Amino acid sequence: MDPKYQRVELNDGHFMSVGQTNKTGSCFYSTQFFNFTLQLWCTFHQPELVQPALESETPLPKDENGKVMFDTVDLCAIWEAMEKCKDAGLAKSIGVSSFNRRQLEMILNNPGLKYKPIYNQVRQSKLLDFCKSKDIVLVAHSALGTQRHKLWVDQNSPVLLEDPVLCALAKKHKRSPALIALRYQLQRGVVVLAKSYNEQRIRENVQVFEFQLTSEDMKVLDGLNRNFRYAVMDFLVDHPDYPFSDEY
Ligand SMILES: NC(=O)c1ccc[n+]([C@@H]2O[C@H](COP(=O)([O-])OP(=O)(O)OC[C@H]3O[C@@H](n4cnc5c(N)ncnc54)[C@H](OP(=O)(O)O)[C@@H]3O)[C@@H](O)[C@H]2O)c1
Repeated sequence: MDPKYQRVELNDGHFMSVGQTNKTGSCFYSTQFFNFTLQLWCTFHQPELVQPALESETPLPKDENGKVMFDTVDLCAIWEAMEKCKDAGLAKSIGVSSFNRRQLEMILNNPGLKYKPIYNQVRQSKLLDFCKSKDIVLVAHSALGTQRHKLWVDQNSPVLLEDPVLCALAKKHKRSPALIALRYQLQRGVVVLAKSYNEQRIRENVQVFEFQLTSEDMKVLDGLNRNFRYAVMDFLVDHPDYPFSDEY
């Protein structure tokens, strides 16, 4: 992949940007491989909408008052529809996003389970051991502290990449604070997403594979945990499956 073009050709002949997302998707790349992750919005949870959502751009529908409209559908029924997408060859593997432990167990204990979720895309630390015990890859989003879009993030919240401890470790390793934040996740056994629209930073972020943090550095970074969530998605708080009310 040449970052100059920042795009890759898909099987159907369309091109998809790399380091950018469309309304439904996110992507991660290393120098060795591409891994495109398409997210199923909570507005497309009716099982008959799962495949069409995968095949097209899906906007986030809002009512006349600007409030996001969502469905309330049994998570296991959605999962079964996603399993059918895998059987249809539309997805190489399927996973979940922002699921808490209770929701993950619900899927894993579904009597008709055909495929286990292979990853859970979250940012929390307590889920890590649980996911590892179930052989589910934990994928960290917002590892750089998000794009701080005002729709999702309180503008008064701390700026992750300006944290003094992170900056001190960056200075010690002669790397950027972003690289320290990404490397921390990798060394915890977490797949990490890093989003950038900037060619230089896309190139820089790939350097995450070129250095190592010491166990002492890792302990220092563990100590930064504030149990703080940048994107609380409060517009979904009334949803019966809102995942962030449980401890993890
Ligand atoms: N599953 C979920 O619920 C969920 C939730 C949130 C996000 N995600 C996914 O996770 C992915 C990334 O998360 P995110 O969008 O929250 O953002 P993020 O990766 O935490 O941060 C992106 C921001 O960091 C900046 N950046 C990137 N590399 C940098 C570097 N080396 N130095 C300094 N700044 C740097 C980018 O600015 P520039 O573009 O200017 O470089 C951008 O503003 C996205 O693909 C998103 O779709 C999933």
